[in-house]
Amino acid sequence: MPKKQLAITAGQAPHHFLAPVFAQYPLEVASASGVWLTDTRGEQVLDLYGGHAVAALGYGHEGWTAALARQAQSCQFQSNAVTMRVRERAARRLVRFSRLPFASAFFVNSGAEANENALKIALRMTGRSHVAAIEGGFHGRTAAAGAVTWGARSRWYGFPRTPFEVSFIPRRDAAAISAQVTRDTAAVIVEPVQGVAGAVDLGAAFLGALRVRCDEIGALLIFDEVQCGVGRTGEPFAANLYGVRPDMLTTAKALGNGFPCAALLMSPLVAASLEPEFLGTTFGGGPLACAAINAVLAAIEDQRLLERVKRIGAYIRSTCRLGPVNGHQGAGLLVGLRTTRPAKEVQAELLACGILTGTASDPQVLRLLPPFILEEQHVDLLRDALRGLAA
Ligand SMILES: Cc1ncc(COP(=O)(O)O)c(C=O)c1O
Repeated sequence: MPKKQLAITAGQAPHHFLAPVFAQYPLEVASASGVWLTDTRGEQVLDLYGGHAVAALGYGHEGWTAALARQAQSCQFQSNAVTMRVRERAARRLVRFSRLPFASAFFVNSGAEANENALKIALRMTGRSHVAAIEGGFHGRTAAAGAVTWGARSRWYGFPRTPFEVSFIPRRDAAAISAQVTRDTAAVIVEPVQGVAGAVDLGAAFLGALRVRCDEIGALLIFDEVQCGVGRTGEPFAANLYGVRPDMLTTAKALGNGFPCAALLMSPLVAASLEPEFLGTTFGGGPLACAAINAVLAAIEDQRLLERVKRIGAYIRSTCRLGPVNGHQGAGLLVGLRTTRPAKEVQAELLACGILTGTASDPQVLRLLPPFILEEQHVDLLRDALRGLAA
């Protein structure tokens, strides 16, 4: 693959009309197919980042593309005030896919919006005013989701105050839970595998201890599986992987394979607390989004992608500890490669070799969030590239 001159830049010189809020890769994508991106110069780049964990089926997936085209031709939109079979199918399919005792799905548009609604439900159901979150967690940039995001208030939160009181529990510290989860606590929100933090797996013991404390104190347990859900860990959700049952689970990203959508799954008790008008959305659960969700879940099942995620995740872990990589963390295809030097350096060097990866809030972690259709031969390209880089 040809070498390119690279640096991750903070500006957006060629795109003057876009708000200057994103650092950007020196890469302009023209098209994509499978796990490959083609840039505007016709060069191919192996995508091990999947657009922040979104492109679960890769690019140009036949079933997903056909489902969207069919839905666009038959009826592109009707609101939630109108019954549509495609929407009912998506809710039933997602609840069944979860293999968890959920009763209902509320469809929205983004991960932050799903979390915002989950927190709103918990605060009202309990009549309490405090939420506990976990150090290192990321939940989105809106008022409530940002309030429970670790470090947001000192960096980008922007609102004059949070809509409820928040405290943070140190990761994996089961002994610290009871002091932070009290009779004032409406909910605990947690990413079972923290994504932005660098694929930090919180483990069954800590997650189980959160469940026990929530039951003791009457708080609700919310799993934010926006990044780690919908098969990315090799199970339908990380809740399955760790055997811990949340009261609510939020998910997005891979759910639509790039068509914007998100969902809030809820237990029968939570569903029973709802009444008309308490929640709402115009676009959430739109027929195109639901067609995308149905196609993604069908593909995961029909192509046996959960098995593939487990197999390829294990292959990455067994082959890619070399060059500047000296350790691994995460689960399935949410992989954190620990680096001996700044991960941003390694990321830029890999992009020069034609491989796109991500970084994390931990500066020594390179994050991989590849499509679930990744094969061993693609991992071999990463291994060979890492072998050529300075340790
Ligand atoms: C775990 C987690 N929760 C919530 C969000 C926010 O999702 P969105 O950007 O769709 O609002 C993200 C986004 O990266 C995430 O990783």
